[in-house]
Amino acid sequence: MTHPRIPHAAGQCPIPLSEFDRSTGDVNEAVGLPPTVYTDPSFFDFERCAVFGSEWLCVGRSEQIPEVGDYFTVTLAGTEPVIVVREPGGTINVMSSVCQHRAMCITAPPERPREEWFAPIPQVSGTARTFRCPYHWWTYDLDGRLLVAPSMERRRDFDKAEHGLPRLRTEIWNGFIFANLDPEAPALAPRLGKIDNLLEPYGLDDWATTPTDTHEDVPFNWKIMVENFMESYHNYGLHNRLLKKQEYGEGAAADGGYQPPYENGDGVIVHCGVAPAIDPAVNPTQRGLFTPVPELTMEQRRQLIFAFVPPTLLLGVFPDSGFWFTVQPETVSSHTLSMGYFFPRPTVEEKLFPALLDLYDAAIQQFNSQDLPANLALQVGMRSQFAPRGPLSHLDSFLPKFNAWLLERYGNADGGTGDG
Ligand code: FES
Repeated sequence: MTHPRIPHAAGQCPIPLSEFDRSTGDVNEAVGLPPTVYTDPSFFDFERCAVFGSEWLCVGRSEQIPEVGDYFTVTLAGTEPVIVVREPGGTINVMSSVCQHRAMCITAPPERPREEWFAPIPQVSGTARTFRCPYHWWTYDLDGRLLVAPSMERRRDFDKAEHGLPRLRTEIWNGFIFANLDPEAPALAPRLGKIDNLLEPYGLDDWATTPTDTHEDVPFNWKIMVENFMESYHNYGLHNRLLKKQEYGEGAAADGGYQPPYENGDGVIVHCGVAPAIDPAVNPTQRGLFTPVPELTMEQRRQLIFAFVPPTLLLGVFPDSGFWFTVQPETVSSHTLSMGYFFPRPTVEEKLFPALLDLYDAAIQQFNSQDLPANLALQVGMRSQFAPRGPLSHLDSFLPKFNAWLLERYGNADGGTGDG
């Protein structure tokens, strides 16, 4: 399958933009998105450019690469393999891993067993002093500069300084690393005001993350994963066995807490519930397993913060712990899903931490065991000729906000031509 390059003018939206209006605004009047936005490859080509070509994409946490030379790889927007590396001086560089000689992905293994010859290039991590392309051994510095290009001395117009690996703009926010494929994109941080005050007492930039659990080729559209993480309506159906209604009833999940409306230009969608008792958690005891952040007030210790920094970062923050997902689309019906837990640094140094982490993980995996198969079942249904644009519940209140965020990007990319 070929894809248009990004950043790139996305072209005309395959669906008239006016079709999306019914999916934004008042949740009690809104309906779901057209099912083809989850299933149509031509819509995905448009969306890749419209959404992923110029937005801030979260690639992970900065403490995943604590030392100079530490790196990991990730593929953005389905076609852009990048290296995330700690440079000398401590800054983080996100750069393309596409060799500037003949375009080999430089993190590909130099040799593979027969059964893996045509397998996807694996995502890797490690520590490097330089990156050498396996094909002709062009060698790049951690900052992307081309250091060595063998047998190029007869080339008359060759200047190594002109052939470094392209660097992406980066921002670090609360310890999360963001990169942008568009060098002209406006900064991310000024658009996150609706959550900054909320997160400030937690000190997330110093939290420690557990090793990420990454799944490639997850077989459903990236938006289905996002919607499942953020909407609370399914707690009363799919997760009924796991959640006590009296603990996280409608007031906490939908009407209480802090749930600002989405406004054009926002870089985050926040749903903050309030539990009836302090230190809520999503394990069978429904009480936090770890020491809560000491700076929190009693009121803040009842908070359950769910946030989406679109289009790739999903965040859950509780008084003692948190979890984060990144969602990187591959095709219209697949994405790469990475999941990590993170904790205040003193918590991970406690003696009981490994044992409690096992309990914490087991509880979260119970939710994943319900959510991830359900998401696949939604993808199956979205392909049907009978897939609806069904009416939303007030507990679906995240969906019209997300749809408004999407529509803003679709409209900007379409340039107004998709409505004709
Ligand atoms: S393609 Fe990388 S050195 Fe030739």
